Amino acid sequence: MSSVIAPSAIRGRFLDIQSTVDQAAAIPEQVRFIEDGLLITQDGKIQWFGTWQAGQHLAADLQVEHYPDQLILPGLIDTHIHFPQTEMIGAYGEQLLEWLNTYTFPTEMQFEDKAYADQIAAFFVQELLKNGTTTALVFCTVHPQSVDALFEAAERHHMRLIAGKVLMDRHAPEALCDTPESAYTDSKALIQKWHGKGRNLYAITPRFAPTSTAAQLAQAGQLKAEHPDVYVHTHLSENQNEIAWVKSLFPEQKNYLDVYHHYGLTGSRSVFAHCVHLEEQEWQCLHDTDSAIAFCPSSNLFLGSGLFPLKKTWEKQVKVGLGTDVGAGTAFSQLDTLNQAYKVQQLQGDKLSAFEALYHATLGAAKALDLHEKLGNFNVGKEADFIVCNLKATAVQALRQDRAKNIEDALFALMMMGDDRNIQATYIYGQKAYAQADRNQY
Ligand code: GUN
Ligand code: ZN
Repeated sequence: MSSVIAPSAIRGRFLDIQSTVDQAAAIPEQVRFIEDGLLITQDGKIQWFGTWQAGQHLAADLQVEHYPDQLILPGLIDTHIHFPQTEMIGAYGEQLLEWLNTYTFPTEMQFEDKAYADQIAAFFVQELLKNGTTTALVFCTVHPQSVDALFEAAERHHMRLIAGKVLMDRHAPEALCDTPESAYTDSKALIQKWHGKGRNLYAITPRFAPTSTAAQLAQAGQLKAEHPDVYVHTHLSENQNEIAWVKSLFPEQKNYLDVYHHYGLTGSRSVFAHCVHLEEQEWQCLHDTDSAIAFCPSSNLFLGSGLFPLKKTWEKQVKVGLGTDVGAGTAFSQLDTLNQAYKVQQLQGDKLSAFEALYHATLGAAKALDLHEKLGNFNVGKEADFIVCNLKATAVQALRQDRAKNIEDALFALMMMGDDRNIQATYIYGQKAYAQADRNQY
């Protein structure tokens, strides 16, 4: 893959976070803003990064793309999203369990048809690119062909996605149920086919505890033990009725997370979406096992699930990344999602700074996915996924940006008002994979 990827040189205003941190207060020290910078990529990786002044001689033989007025950020990382739910965004009136039965399950049944899955996967990947999302951890459906469809679509752009087949053997329509045995064999075949192929990575994906029998969770744990470097991706403690249901289904476990922990499904490559209503012991277990949370503010507001206590992730030293959770989240845009994240913190009396928000959508998210050695900022050697943001996509944005006090204020305004209109270009593995000028063709 790498030898065919040509070098490229990008000049402009770059902003990133240089290093992972243990406390929010340490983020400002790690902010790197280069007003006139240069980034050179080679074989999909960052070969050189610094000021234009220091590096311009290196770009002498390259065609330099210059973005003097825009802001170049690391690619945004979505730590929780469902590709088959793309078409059902904004489904009216229900909270989690009714929403699943009314809207989600009927929608997901269509993905038995590979051609349909291909069509939605192509749309989904294009929508990620259009919104500046360069890596995502993605739910497919129970159908193995839905996983093939998604990875095939991602591969066409050299995009790094993590995804897996849903495991679900009860409390769902017959047509969407697998069995403990088929969940194991189908997932194993998909791991062998996709995990580590190009940039693709595989996630064992039990939907959530209520839709898997103990026998199926045991099979999932067996798979994880046999393939320790694949991911585990599921939902946890999103809604009060869901939590009560889990307690009635698994009375022998101490709490909701303990159901997963018991079957060997926690760990440094395990990502739990939501975690809105965790008990103290569950926070401790996430910390002790180095598991991660996907914080999904748009979804949590839309389904009326609750307010996620982001500050507590720092107190308890639990990894967290931002997730859109489309289709319960109402936008693919991580800018829009950060806007909602800010308001969720306001409602709890906490402040989410622009730089902390950037961290959760880039390097912090990469850490949550155990990919911080490869993704999340402009450090030399990392994979060259980045986005070019137009800060002034609308008249009111231009009015506001002209009065921005500094780069932090400009970034904050971008996050509070921005969406896909602000994504001018998305680069994947050093190559331009999306340009806003072409957006109408999708
Ligand atoms: N819990 C189990 N399945 C789902 C899902 O599809 N979306 C959300 N938001 N929560 C879930
Ligand atoms: Zn979800």
